[in-house]
Amino acid sequence: MSLSVPRRLAAVAALAVGGLIAATAPSALAAPTAPAAPTAVTAAPTPPDIPLANVKAHLTQLQTIATNNGGNRAHGRAGYKASIDYVKAKLDAAGFTTTLQTFTSSGATGYNLIADWPGGDPDSVLMAGAHLDSVSSGAGINDNGSGSAAVLETALAVSRAQLQPTKHLRFGWWGAEELGLIGSKYYVNNLPAAERAKFSGYLNFDMIGSPNPGYFVYDDDAAIEQTFKTYFSGIGVPTEIETEGDGRSDHASFKNVGIPVGGLFTGASRTKTAAQAQKWGGTSGQAFDRCYHSSCDNTSNINDTALDRNSDAVAYAIWNLGAATPVPPGKSFENTADVNIPDSPGAAVTSPVTASDVPGNAPATTKVDVNIVHTYRGDLVVDLVAPDGTVYNLHNRSGGSADNLVASYTVNASAEVANGVWKLQVKDVAAQDVGYINSWKITF
Ligand code: TRP
Ligand code: ZN
Ligand code: CA
Repeated sequence: MSLSVPRRLAAVAALAVGGLIAATAPSALAAPTAPAAPTAVTAAPTPPDIPLANVKAHLTQLQTIATNNGGNRAHGRAGYKASIDYVKAKLDAAGFTTTLQTFTSSGATGYNLIADWPGGDPDSVLMAGAHLDSVSSGAGINDNGSGSAAVLETALAVSRAQLQPTKHLRFGWWGAEELGLIGSKYYVNNLPAAERAKFSGYLNFDMIGSPNPGYFVYDDDAAIEQTFKTYFSGIGVPTEIETEGDGRSDHASFKNVGIPVGGLFTGASRTKTAAQAQKWGGTSGQAFDRCYHSSCDNTSNINDTALDRNSDAVAYAIWNLGAATPVPPGKSFENTADVNIPDSPGAAVTSPVTASDVPGNAPATTKVDVNIVHTYRGDLVVDLVAPDGTVYNLHNRSGGSADNLVASYTVNASAEVANGVWKLQVKDVAAQDVGYINSWKITF
């Protein structure tokens, strides 16, 4: 105890210095007395944990809309337009610039809703979307209230964070997907070629809360696919490549005009195998979604865990791909060996890497990627230790009860010679929850 208190205070002080330097504060707040501390640490914006309760509240509203409008939210029916109005009102109130695009299909007016988050590079657009229409036989809560609600709540989280990403963020809700990707095709076909060229990627979310879920990642653009896989590996959930019908959702409209695409899916009418049930739980020999395109696709037709994980994955991808700047031609050193972190009160543990052939000092933008599996990241103090023993605090008990610490940090290590043994040091300072260093990497 007498040892750990000063340690913790020192770490808090180091973190506070990092925060001050990192902040793009107005000049009144830019302290002229800012100390030239050696511990300038800037955490990359951490993706939020999307509240499952918020996502489910949107599903409840979509269910009510269906119930009040003949039981569905299908193209051309009152329940579809009411769904659009619900989503649009939330986005308008959160500061998005919304556009309602109309088209005609099967003699009825259809609607796409587009929401732009002001700011970012107008020549580099990252878009996420979901179809908002159901089939006429039911409320379409998994297909595709789930994707619609997760994308909506991620957009609202962008607003809550007042995120200032490098890229321009755009969100879309498509009409008449169930009639053959009509709305998204209309949107893409009406984009001038110069506008299409500005897309860095389109992320599609169609059925992400299936009641007997699988965790499927679209096998399209490699960087998008890897982003989702990194998220799921960080929470210890195995994924498979999506194979239940490539091109069966709105990403196909974007892919057809050369836009990089990716997305997530928890399965439709295909049957879960024994091997899949082994790794994901659930029921083998049963469809991922027995209510696919049926009247029972209501609010009971959702697996909360799958919806929660996939919603967090949407935000993880928007935060990471939206902030992504070109990867510098850095040299990386990684240690992927697991190191057990003993529960408090236990000693700090370290995982070493040996940097070699890096000329001179480490850069001011030395990047440290940390992947720690733990059941309570608020227990952890995580430091980078330079070859000469200088300690740079990366994480000091933030994040509360959230699982795992999967994060990227930028450290001003310019006072350090790059070559030598660098260590990730982790100490658990609160009893009960435990975990291990899964991997970490330093990039100069
Ligand atoms: N909305 C799609 C459909 O009705 C659902 C679907 C089936 C899907 N297979 C898919 C979505 C594969 C994404 C990927 O056809
Ligand atoms: Zn669908
Ligand atoms: Ca603990």
